[in-house]
Amino acid sequence: MRILTGIQPSGALHLGNYFGAMLPAIGLQNEGEAFYFIADYHSMTSLTDARLRRQYTLDVALDFLACGLDPARCIFWKQSDTPEHTELAWILSTVTPMGLLERCHSYKDKIARLADGDAGAVNHGLFAYPVLMAADILLYGSHIVPVGKDQKQHLEVTRDIAIKFNLLYGETFVVPEPRIREEVALVPGTDGQKMSKSYGNTIELFGDEKAIRKKIMAIQTDSRLPAEPKPDAGKNNAIQLLKLVAPAAVAAEWEEKLRIGGTGYGDVKKALFAHYWDYFAPARQRRAELASDLDHVHALLRSGAERARTAARPILTRAREAAGLT
Ligand code: ADP
Ligand code: TRP
Repeated sequence: MRILTGIQPSGALHLGNYFGAMLPAIGLQNEGEAFYFIADYHSMTSLTDARLRRQYTLDVALDFLACGLDPARCIFWKQSDTPEHTELAWILSTVTPMGLLERCHSYKDKIARLADGDAGAVNHGLFAYPVLMAADILLYGSHIVPVGKDQKQHLEVTRDIAIKFNLLYGETFVVPEPRIREEVALVPGTDGQKMSKSYGNTIELFGDEKAIRKKIMAIQTDSRLPAEPKPDAGKNNAIQLLKLVAPAAVAAEWEEKLRIGGTGYGDVKKALFAHYWDYFAPARQRRAELASDLDHVHALLRSGAERARTAARPILTRAREAAGLT
């Protein structure tokens, strides 16, 4: 069974990415042949700073490896190191109805946000984004594609494209199954909304100690005095985050303290910082080691790309033959 997923290099990874996407992906390494790549081609649709792309790509690689992605058990590489993706994307684009892409929410949302602004900011890559994603998936004969809810429609597009190609040119591609992480609770950000880079409410996995402590101490809470009982303590942002990084009994104890009254939010936040810091201590250590030998990290990615290519080539050849290109 082949499991494949991609992550965009769009900035430092945060607790939401970790509990929502990375941890499940790391767990799946043992369930089949795992293919995980850094989607740097996709990042070009929204990021046009080359230096930042390089930095973010390296950050994602370091973060994933530090958190337990094991290149011995999965294939981990950078998308643009296997340019076969773009060749297949062209082939697939010729069997993709315009209407299918016009209906995509992620594209429509971006247009809507720009409605009174700069229409020129919508590039063709953004429109064709789901076709490149279909190529990523179909190129490896992927069976299972674990993604967040936001990517559900893109997977339906992938399935439609695979079925259409198979109908027109004969059985060529595996039609993949999505594995939507419905059950993963949304990790709240420091302001209580979903934690997201675009809301500026994130807690990074590997930030500067002082800066993160400041962010955690600034988590939004209500203005009730410490003495007051807080029967809704379970909904508190700091408690919800504490439940992720502290042993269950410890988090339950803090929740209870808030519930009965006599404990201030400041103390909960201090405990949260301490547990957050300890939780990521081993990964922080590994990340520092990896960062001190970047040649090794680049070599890991290159060898991942070679292995990915070996898996991709026969499938691309099959598609080329089916379409009468060879
Ligand atoms: P961001 O919203 O910060 O731009 P991305 O959209 O790049 O994050 O997230 C990549 C993946 O990480 C998503 O598909 C989703 O599964 C997961 N993720 C991001 N934020 C959260 C969150 N707050 N809670 C749970 N999962 C999240
Ligand atoms: N579009 C995905 C996201 O933003 C990233 C991605 C690119 C991807 N190609 C993929 C995910 C292929 C799964 C499979 O999260």
